[in-house]
Amino acid sequence: MISIIVAVSDDWGIGSKNELLWHIPEDMKRFRKLTMGNTVIMGKKTWESLPKRPLAGRRNIVLTDIPGEVVNGSDTAYSIEDAIGKSGNDGEVFIIGGGTIYRQFMEVADRLYITHVHRNAPADVYFPVPDPGRWEIVESNDFVTDDENRLPYSYVIYERKKG
Ligand SMILES: NC(=O)c1ccc[n+]([C@@H]2O[C@H](COP(=O)([O-])OP(=O)(O)OC[C@H]3O[C@@H](n4cnc5c(N)ncnc54)[C@H](OP(=O)(O)O)[C@@H]3O)[C@@H](O)[C@H]2O)c1
Repeated sequence: MISIIVAVSDDWGIGSKNELLWHIPEDMKRFRKLTMGNTVIMGKKTWESLPKRPLAGRRNIVLTDIPGEVVNGSDTAYSIEDAIGKSGNDGEVFIIGGGTIYRQFMEVADRLYITHVHRNAPADVYFPVPDPGRWEIVESNDFVTDDENRLPYSYVIYERKKG
């Protein structure tokens, strides 16, 4: 099972200047809970953006195009196929970004955990909009953050349509 996990703005922005667009502690806790004990796959820019790396309690696979480069603290992979092979193919494997990696894994992913953050924010990296002909919503829950901004967001799970 290959799952993408991402938080997007209303216009599908996911990052700016190699940082996230918001800080939603509840969403970070959910990310940790879902990914804990599993393998996470990310691009090198997302790896470099992590405040603490590797992500504890998870196998961290980092993609780079640079032949022979070893990203210290991770299992380094050099192609999408290499990353999938190194993930061992058991349990749920989480694709955790960023934009280039999401785009490439959309073709092979089975499930999308998308946190829709209901605001528009200036971004320089975007998530590819899921094609409604290929993806169906299987779960959706709405929340509002507790902070003074009252930032509304929804957890939406999409699964690839069968057939
Ligand atoms: N909102 C969210 O949920 C979320 C989640 C994660 C990240 N983000 C945001 O996304 C942004 C980063 O995304 P990004 O698209 O700029 O970078 P990225 O996807 O994290 O990393 C890009 C790098 O990955 C490597 N790579 C990509 N495809 C590869 C392939 N097929 N084979 C081997 N290596 C490959 C290359 O590394 P080399 O340059 O070493 O060759 C490439 O430069 C940041 O702003 C971050 O905060 C948001």
